[in-house]
Amino acid sequence: MTRSLTIRRPDDWHLHLRDGAMLRAVLPETTRHFARAIVMPNLVPPVVTAADAVRYRDRILAALPDGAAFTPLMTLYLTEDTDPDDVATAHASGLVTAVKLYPAGATTNSASGVRDFDRVRPVLERMAEIGLPLCVHGEVTDDDIDIFDREAVFIDRVLDPLRRATPGLRVVMEHITTRQGADYARSAPDLGATITTHHLVINRNHILAGGIKPHYYCLPVAKREEHRLALRAAATSGDPTYFLGTDSAPHTDPAKLQPCGCAGCFTAPNTLSILAEVFEQEDALDRLEGFTSLHGPAFYGLPPNEGTLTLTRGEPVTYPDRIETGDGPVTVFDPQMPLHWSVT
Ligand code: DOR
Ligand code: ZN
Repeated sequence: MTRSLTIRRPDDWHLHLRDGAMLRAVLPETTRHFARAIVMPNLVPPVVTAADAVRYRDRILAALPDGAAFTPLMTLYLTEDTDPDDVATAHASGLVTAVKLYPAGATTNSASGVRDFDRVRPVLERMAEIGLPLCVHGEVTDDDIDIFDREAVFIDRVLDPLRRATPGLRVVMEHITTRQGADYARSAPDLGATITTHHLVINRNHILAGGIKPHYYCLPVAKREEHRLALRAAATSGDPTYFLGTDSAPHTDPAKLQPCGCAGCFTAPNTLSILAEVFEQEDALDRLEGFTSLHGPAFYGLPPNEGTLTLTRGEPVTYPDRIETGDGPVTVFDPQMPLHWSVT
């Protein structure tokens, strides 16, 4: 049995770092293990312009723990007023690595997202020209579409037409949660897909059966077991289409535990232990490095990290149930299984 596994230092291709006291509390949980992360722009107000991204990057760099070697890869929040020239300049200077598309109303702080896709066509065309990837929150928001169908419907009604209208646009399907998402992602070379840690572990029963579990509620919401199994097959397949984006999304316990609780699972602290367990269960430990450390850089045209990280198998490791932040406690995702792999 494998007892120790050394992999290139991982990256997180989808992360929420927030701001202020929350940023200072959660950032070390990521920099401990990850060398880079695609930082989501859904702050209040969102990171819309290059100037916003410069200021947010500076706040992240100022919050880094001493000695941390970590590069935040910044994103811009696409709105119907986004200026293609601003995006192109931000890309050319190396400031931004991707642009994020939230359909308006799809999730936390997405009110400024896109309603009319025709209005963002000039930006998307410019991005296709300059090779800047679009990260997509792939859910429709129509009231008449069942929440469990929103990803599959988005692919048919929005994503596929959008890609046909914008040839050459590179798209990352963020946090896919369905078999349809996994299948569509592998259908073209200009598509990639991130998969979260939690969607490899929970299905919708974990959220709803035997009492409601607010800490398992995230968006896109976890689906049926057959979809979880499709995601596990995709993540552990070795196919470079798929790479890790934790979507670690901290909310304080009071914000989660209320009549209208926030969406998000906070997985930054224990993600690598959980992933090693999942890949071991799937007899695919040799493919963990591809998922965490190689496929993402390849999609984004970046070199893999030089450093390494070693996972060691032993007695189950424990993580704190929650971390304290200046804004209040944040509960750490509970995978409900023993974790035998620790990061050294
Ligand atoms: O669960 C989620 N939480 N999904 C998202 O898309 C946003 C995120 C957040 O910002 O809290
Ligand atoms: Zn997210």
